[in-house]
Amino acid sequence: MTKKITFLGIETSCDETAAAVIRENGGGTADVLSNVVSSQIKEHEKFGGVVPELAARAHLENIDYIINSALIKSKISLKEIDGIAATAGPGLIVCLTIGLNIGKSIAAFSRKPFIGVNHLEGHALSPGLENKLEFPYLLLLISGGHTQFLIVKDIGHYQQLGTTIDDALGEAFDKTAKMLNLGYPGGPKVEKFSKLGDKNFFKLPEPIINKAGCNLSFAGLKTAVLRETRKINGNDKAKYNLAASFQNTINKILYKKTKVAVKMFKDSTQCKKVKLVVAGGVAANKSIRENLNNLSKDMNFETIYPNIKFCGDNAAMIAWVGIQKYKKKLFDNLKIKAKSRWPLDKTAPYMKGPGLKL
Ligand code: KG4
Ligand code: ZN
Repeated sequence: MTKKITFLGIETSCDETAAAVIRENGGGTADVLSNVVSSQIKEHEKFGGVVPELAARAHLENIDYIINSALIKSKISLKEIDGIAATAGPGLIVCLTIGLNIGKSIAAFSRKPFIGVNHLEGHALSPGLENKLEFPYLLLLISGGHTQFLIVKDIGHYQQLGTTIDDALGEAFDKTAKMLNLGYPGGPKVEKFSKLGDKNFFKLPEPIINKAGCNLSFAGLKTAVLRETRKINGNDKAKYNLAASFQNTINKILYKKTKVAVKMFKDSTQCKKVKLVVAGGVAANKSIRENLNNLSKDMNFETIYPNIKFCGDNAAMIAWVGIQKYKKKLFDNLKIKAKSRWPLDKTAPYMKGPGLKL
């Protein structure tokens, strides 16, 4: 019988302090033995966004406890673990360094292999914790810092088809919630309050919708929300209508751009059966899921989402990348440093800033 690999994962790239212990289950997926996430909502709520220094301090205060809890809950001792994986980027350097250093220290004193994980690869492979995934598949990665369409060819092999040229989708949700004073964290609040409004009330722009392939843009939409917010003067009904119209516009944008991405994926891979994986914090949004399920029916492809608990930042997805890389003997040296920027497709053009030609 082949040995089932067990990994400890650590995640501190932004505002969640997380640790998890997972084990391969022999069926191409994993048994999540523990998955501990400590969110810092309370620390950042009054600022309406993540404050890096506060996040780093909270990671420092909590990380030992979180890792210990993950080990105790898993009923696995450090001795039985095959390796340690910690997020090495992209993210806030002051935050990344905390999880990365503790991960390296545990690896060094327990003499286990260490793997520094790309957080985006964690999201990209996260549905694989519970669904056996075969390569290649089309990935729509929607989080607080990234919005991209990629072909996932294999572990470590990604081809970017499109990306946002300005704000990330999660950022657009967060800013909309802030403008409308709906509370923090923004994404779930916009989703909640949009259910109380009329989604057709405001006509909002869908930037670059008929050009630039499957690249996306949300800045013009955000500005339009700001303009309307000023007019409605805090009226609750109008706020809900605006939240609903924003969510509806996002759905329309994702529907059209995913349609383009599916065609590009088919042309590039020659795959007849398309699998679309939607991952990252924003993939928790049920309205987006319903909308993309409609597209998958219209275009006859399969859509796979991670379990809601693996959409937002967590360490199970980091440990899962660790296991995949361990099996390919892709170990890291303990000299590995945290990286604030770490694209999955290093050859993809940088799509932000002035002078961009679409
Ligand atoms: O993946 P994630 O936890 O962290 C990053 O890697 O960025 O994503 C966080 C983002 C935030 O912008 C948050 O508002 C958004 O995901 N989000 C949502 C929902 N839940 C989280 N956006 C829309 N609807 C949701 N239900
Ligand atoms: Zn994330």
